[in-house]
Amino acid sequence: MQNLGIAMTGSGSAAPATFLDNQALTELVETSDEWITTRTGIRQRRLAKASETMTELATAASRQAIAMSGIDPQDLDLILLATSTPDDLFGSACQIQAQLGATKAVAFDLTAACSGFVFGFVTAAQYLKTGVYQNALIVAADVLSRWVDWQDRRTCILFGDGAGAVVIQANEKDCLLGFEIRSDGTQNNCLNLAYASEPAELIQGVNVGKGNFQPITMNGKEIYRFAVQKVPEVIDKALFRANLSVDQIDWLLLHQANQRILDAVAQRLNIPEHKVISNLANYGNTSAASIPLALDEAVRQSKIKTGDIIATSGFGAGLTWGAAIFQWGR
Ligand code: ACO
Repeated sequence: MQNLGIAMTGSGSAAPATFLDNQALTELVETSDEWITTRTGIRQRRLAKASETMTELATAASRQAIAMSGIDPQDLDLILLATSTPDDLFGSACQIQAQLGATKAVAFDLTAACSGFVFGFVTAAQYLKTGVYQNALIVAADVLSRWVDWQDRRTCILFGDGAGAVVIQANEKDCLLGFEIRSDGTQNNCLNLAYASEPAELIQGVNVGKGNFQPITMNGKEIYRFAVQKVPEVIDKALFRANLSVDQIDWLLLHQANQRILDAVAQRLNIPEHKVISNLANYGNTSAASIPLALDEAVRQSKIKTGDIIATSGFGAGLTWGAAIFQWGR
């Protein structure tokens, strides 16, 4: 029998043990707990030690998601890693595959910054909806602390490290109800972690670039405007595809960038506060990881229950943005 639907059957998450609260940040830059809390809602973030890898966090989150789904790692056909901070620029998904012992799975990386989880979920679902694969792991992990300029108060207050994962399985009923994913490269310069080439002369007349990356740069006001305008639009579009109205949504699960963005989007969509999932006070912006990390917490707290309808949306560098409407569980 060919299955043409998908169900999300497991979730997991992981974060480094080290905390950094807003007060501690005042030792680094001129800021205050009050400024950070009122402008962003963030109170603390978790930071990976120099010895901790993105792959370790991603693998820990993946193990939990696989266990919750009740499958065996060897049942996985596909592992899709959404990250902008790979441990290896050639890709880190295969290291996760090896650590999980998911010998049958094809594994590769996908980069779409803070939209990475939504893009990864939608992409993996296509393999299942065509009947090609049965079981897929989408794991999203980022260690942006490696790439933050800790002297730049406009950005260093925002980011934290973490990982989140989900397992999706082929299912008769389709629980991915609608989606819309978008890109606009003309606004690329609003948020970058850009390659910084240092010229190196190999022999006379032959120059190559010696690889390095600049720290994260961001036009905060533009990103704020972009998110508050585009996210409601894309959720509306995905809802239209799902043939659902806003009041049928049980949970609004946005990329955890900033509480003010969450509040403004919810207000524009007329979604009451009690339906908005938010855990950014404890983690900051964990980029691709933020949505599955918040999803997993809500599932484990029994906030999200089987059959609940979730509107999720990621947005960020690229620029990229997207929304997916799905039902939790089978
Ligand atoms: N502490 C104290 N003061 C600060 C800090 C800080 N950490 N950072 C900036 N300021 C100062 C500025 O220097 C400025 O001072 P001035 O008026 O004397 O020049 C003042 O505070 C206001 O600065 P703005 O940049 O205008 O502050 P704004 O109200 O726009 O808030 C913020 C900044 C929080 C970054 C906001 O623009 C925002 O949330 N943008 C969205 C950013 C975001 O979510 N990015 C991530 C999404 S994409 C992804 O996840 C990768």
